[in-house]
Amino acid sequence: MKYISRKFPNTRLRRIRMKSFSRKMVSENFLSHNDLIWPVFLSNGDKSRDEISSMPGVYRYSIDILLKELDILVEQGLNAIALFPMIKSELKNERGSYAFEPKNFIFEAVRKIKKEYPKLGIICDVALDPYTNHGHDGIIINGKVDNDKTLENLINQSLNLAEAGCDIVAPSDMMDGRVGVIRSSFENNGFNNVMIMSYAAKYSSSLYGPFRDAVNAGKLTEPRNKKSYQMDYANSNESMHEISMDIAEGADMIMIKPGLPYLDIITKSKQLFSMPTFTYQVSGEYSMIMSASELDYINKEDAILELMMCFKRAGADGIFTYFTPFLLSCLKN
Ligand code: PBG
Repeated sequence: MKYISRKFPNTRLRRIRMKSFSRKMVSENFLSHNDLIWPVFLSNGDKSRDEISSMPGVYRYSIDILLKELDILVEQGLNAIALFPMIKSELKNERGSYAFEPKNFIFEAVRKIKKEYPKLGIICDVALDPYTNHGHDGIIINGKVDNDKTLENLINQSLNLAEAGCDIVAPSDMMDGRVGVIRSSFENNGFNNVMIMSYAAKYSSSLYGPFRDAVNAGKLTEPRNKKSYQMDYANSNESMHEISMDIAEGADMIMIKPGLPYLDIITKSKQLFSMPTFTYQVSGEYSMIMSASELDYINKEDAILELMMCFKRAGADGIFTYFTPFLLSCLKN
């Protein structure tokens, strides 16, 4: 009501907007380096840094090169990273069993990063898709991604990651009940303080395309899409059910994914649950911004800073973004 009584010219909203200092004084949201999580693609081997063709400026790093890169970024204030392994085709199989083979290079990578940068938060994805030859996040039985059989492998993968020193596991597979079983396996195995950030509302999205490229996921075999486990983008109430279940099962933090087209979900969930809430500006969002800015249709820096602030305004506490290295240098200036 009180807004309606505002009258021109006593009230001129443009007065405050006239000067930079007064705009800054009233700014309601802020972006800090602590809000940024850098998703990183890791490959096996050494001395390699390959650019991903559908994501210009994003690389697959071998661990030795990544450690060098982290030297600079940690110095610039990098607070947390999220690791995604790129697995060679010959190591993939029906069950994605390389996900929990002790010799999987991701575990060694976690140990090395922890050793060099003990304060840097390490988040690891939990899902079988980098490891399965059919590209699905779970095990396929009779032509369907089987929920309960998949859970066993996800527990195994999570325990190995926790053992290696990962701070937060982030299940992105969208199987029912996975947060609960991972939580209890952590409690039973002495990993009481390993956190779970659940990709609670993960939508079945065309915007993951470049990521599949990056992790060598190939084309999905039957079923040809992930709609039987990732959410229908027509739905919003359903994601609140997803989130409430994950919280009840022991999620410490939740994630909404993709980012920009799902701001309404971020806001709704923040208002309803008051949980630490994250979002993921996914590979397709990255590539769209890069293509438009390379064509000079938009200004890259302005666009990225605007989008980050929109995530914060919507209610996100932090953002997974491939622009993290770029943003760290913007924030420094
Ligand atoms: C794996 C996973 C995906 C992404 C993050 N974890 C792909 C998918 O579910 O198909 C996508 C991230 C991105 O597009 O940047 N389950």
